[in-house]
Amino acid sequence: MNEWNYKTIIEPFKIKMVEPIAFTTEAEREKLLEKAGYNLFNIPADKVTIDLLTDSGTSAMSALQWSAMMRGDESYAGAKSFFVFEKTIRDLTGYKYIIPVHQGRAAEKIFFPIVGGKGKIVPGNTHFDTTRANIEASGAAALDLPCRQAADTQSDYPFKGNIDLAALEKVIKKKQRSIPLVLMTLTNNALGGQPVSLQNLRETRRLLLKYRIPLFIDAARFAENAYFIKLREDGMAEKSVSQIAGEIFSLADGALMSAKKDAFANIGGFLALNNEELTQKARKALILTEGFVTYGGLAGRDLEAIAQGLLEVLEEDYLKYRLRSTAYLGEGLQKYGVPIVRPAGGHAIYVDAKRFLPHIPVSQFPGHALAVALYRQAGIRSCELGSLMFNGKAKMELVRLAIPRRVYTQSHVDWIIEVFGKIAARKKALKGFRIVWAPKELRHFTARLAPF
Ligand code: F0G
Repeated sequence: MNEWNYKTIIEPFKIKMVEPIAFTTEAEREKLLEKAGYNLFNIPADKVTIDLLTDSGTSAMSALQWSAMMRGDESYAGAKSFFVFEKTIRDLTGYKYIIPVHQGRAAEKIFFPIVGGKGKIVPGNTHFDTTRANIEASGAAALDLPCRQAADTQSDYPFKGNIDLAALEKVIKKKQRSIPLVLMTLTNNALGGQPVSLQNLRETRRLLLKYRIPLFIDAARFAENAYFIKLREDGMAEKSVSQIAGEIFSLADGALMSAKKDAFANIGGFLALNNEELTQKARKALILTEGFVTYGGLAGRDLEAIAQGLLEVLEEDYLKYRLRSTAYLGEGLQKYGVPIVRPAGGHAIYVDAKRFLPHIPVSQFPGHALAVALYRQAGIRSCELGSLMFNGKAKMELVRLAIPRRVYTQSHVDWIIEVFGKIAARKKALKGFRIVWAPKELRHFTARLAPF
């Protein structure tokens, strides 16, 4: 019997510092919604009770991270903190050249103009939206090739983050010369936080070696992905997460990472490469937009926090708690008949709003209707990933409940589940929305809406 054999999830940390959360009345929230044009991005954070908008930059840092920050060396060039950062990432990934950046999309902005460009195609399991935008901004096309199981939200296939290898080979056969690299996003955020298997990565590598195409990893949630591999993949149970992560990185030629996720940092990221020529070009771009090569848009203390966070995220008690507590939220919602993307993702639960609210047509944004209902009911902030965000190109109508790392306890999660119970009981009364004003691109951030 150990602590994990009990039903209650024991968070593998105790709390040293607390931050009050806001409680508002329903009448206040109604006014706030109206003022915000029913867009949750316009709600001030101090009017949000539980914030599930994103798991990015919202982690609670550890005592060791905070103390490491005090050691931050703020020298312009060659700061001690850079060498701590560089060594940690080299040890983790095995890559030679480590380039710090201020967040994930900064790595994308530097990297894709170098490898992309007009006429190029960058296939992947499914690109995150900033990744896609940066690939396309370089003139290249971003091509999503998720495995077919990913389209069925109710399938419990264990590795729905996988790439469709047959589809990939087909594209390569036609367009080999136009493909500078393939990018695998771990876990697959755009399709439910689902993991990629080691087998799929190995087979992708094998295929790409045959055609001499490099493989890169978007490592934002690599540790969650590695732990899913340990839990679900044959022969992996006895391996440590560090070993699995090492194998993941060894199959690729480099990685881009937003350290705002699995590194528990509030800001930061990196680009890690083996190729010297690419590195020289990337460093040149880095100096133009981010900063000198040993800080890349970050303070020395940020480099320290990231380095320490990357060690902590490989602790298996943490990862066990992390994936278990996310799944627990999913189980609780399903008890109230709330359909989710199955199986539960690593960093978030994705509610299938189209299934949950079949009386609201897609043109009236069922996902957004649910997100507004969650805020109106209890001050819970979530994010629509459907027709509002993807403007006619949405494959599903989802609401993402992203879980900040080490921030909320099991009682918070129980409370969220109870709120869903109340909404589920009167879901037929929920109404759709129409857009009052929206910009042409990235409209979900600033659009104003009105209820029907
Ligand atoms: N790649 C993935 C898989 C991401 O999820 C994100 C960000 C990025 C790259 C970009 O990193 O934000 O540091 O510039 N995802 C956040 C989210 C914003 O809410 O899922 P960034």
